[in-house]
Amino acid sequence: MKILLIGNGAREHVIAETLKKNKDTKLFSYLKSKNPGIISLSEEFETGNYADLEKIKSFALRIKPDFAFIGPEEPLNNGVADLLSEIGITSVGPTKSLARLETSKSFTRNLLRKYKIEGNPKFEIFDKNNLDDAKKFIEGLGQCVIKPDGLTGGKGVKVQGDHFQTKKEAFDYCSEVLQSHSAVVVEEKLEGEEFSLQCLTDGKTVIATPPVQDHKRAFAGDKGPNTGGMGSYSCENHLLPFLTKKDVEDGLKITQKAAEALHKETGEFYKGVMYAGLIVTKNGIKLLEYNARLGDPEAMNILPLMETDFAEVCNAIINQELHKVRIKFHNNATVCKYLVPEGYPGNPLGNEKIEIKKIPQSAGLYYASVEQKEDGIYTTSSRAIACLGISDNLEKAEKIAEEATKSISGKLFHRKDIGTNELIEKRVRHMKNIGNKNQNI
Ligand code: GLY
Repeated sequence: MKILLIGNGAREHVIAETLKKNKDTKLFSYLKSKNPGIISLSEEFETGNYADLEKIKSFALRIKPDFAFIGPEEPLNNGVADLLSEIGITSVGPTKSLARLETSKSFTRNLLRKYKIEGNPKFEIFDKNNLDDAKKFIEGLGQCVIKPDGLTGGKGVKVQGDHFQTKKEAFDYCSEVLQSHSAVVVEEKLEGEEFSLQCLTDGKTVIATPPVQDHKRAFAGDKGPNTGGMGSYSCENHLLPFLTKKDVEDGLKITQKAAEALHKETGEFYKGVMYAGLIVTKNGIKLLEYNARLGDPEAMNILPLMETDFAEVCNAIINQELHKVRIKFHNNATVCKYLVPEGYPGNPLGNEKIEIKKIPQSAGLYYASVEQKEDGIYTTSSRAIACLGISDNLEKAEKIAEEATKSISGKLFHRKDIGTNELIEKRVRHMKNIGNKNQNI
């Protein structure tokens, strides 16, 4: 089975590793930079950017893969799935139109509203013509969140209380967003604990993988600026300490209805990942956003636990036979910790050498944005290496991940608190304080 993998992060490294568990898999990869982990698992690779559709097309035409797996949002937004479809190659990854689920916040909010799917907060969408109405809407909300309508690399969303304080600042940011975006979404700020529910779908059947909690802030204790994600954990019972089974089922129901609505709306079947960024509030589950891809780092929490052959799962997605597959996951806990360059995210120290000693056998190591040079591996401007611990409980998984970080040296830092009891208890206390009655522990 020939598979074309597009992407070069730690997410794609774990996708490659999981696909290669099938002995018949031959992997061919198209990457923006030379990820040593992905390259070592590939028969052949090509480097190039994700907007170079001609280069991707000619690589695909030469390889003739059975299917493609598109990892990041950028090639999805560039229409790589559409391009491959034109030359007869199906992708795990939606077309440009369906990827609006991630790339257009207004599309997704309107979809849920139109098809009466629960999970939306109070929201309205504004453009240059009705910007004055935004003032009134913001006045009528408690605290608010401002989201530019389009891809912003995780940096465009601003939350009252975190990134700005007053309603005037909220309105000023709306005006600023409209200088570079066609629309802006204003939403009520929700209070609760966030989690990621990464669902696999062939457009008809939607299957949830175990929920994961990511950590956005750069420093221990949830301090510092937002990042792409500093690390994440999942639990052996496939819940989280502040989540019930019903919460997860509610998140899945929203996603099943959204998949159905997407088909009604576009006439196309969504094949790939619908990653729901959810929040459990005192009033139940709400949708913060969808991503049209696996999470990074969250992919590293779920794929290594998959007992079912992932290549077979991908084939079922392509052939719309997901209803025939029972996807099983080991009952283990996972903790993933990202080592990132000093100064990340604002002023990262790139081009610094990373030394890797022998990683403990029980730990996983995934390369992210590093550059393989002749004399070794170097940092770039983004997250560098992820260390993964898997064990029968969270405490042991955290220790394995933490131990693994000690084998890697360079001008790097990581969050030592991810997966620790102290931080988890803080999450549970937070839910109790906001009056959520569905306590799991
Ligand atoms: N961990 C957040 C994301 O993948 O978008």
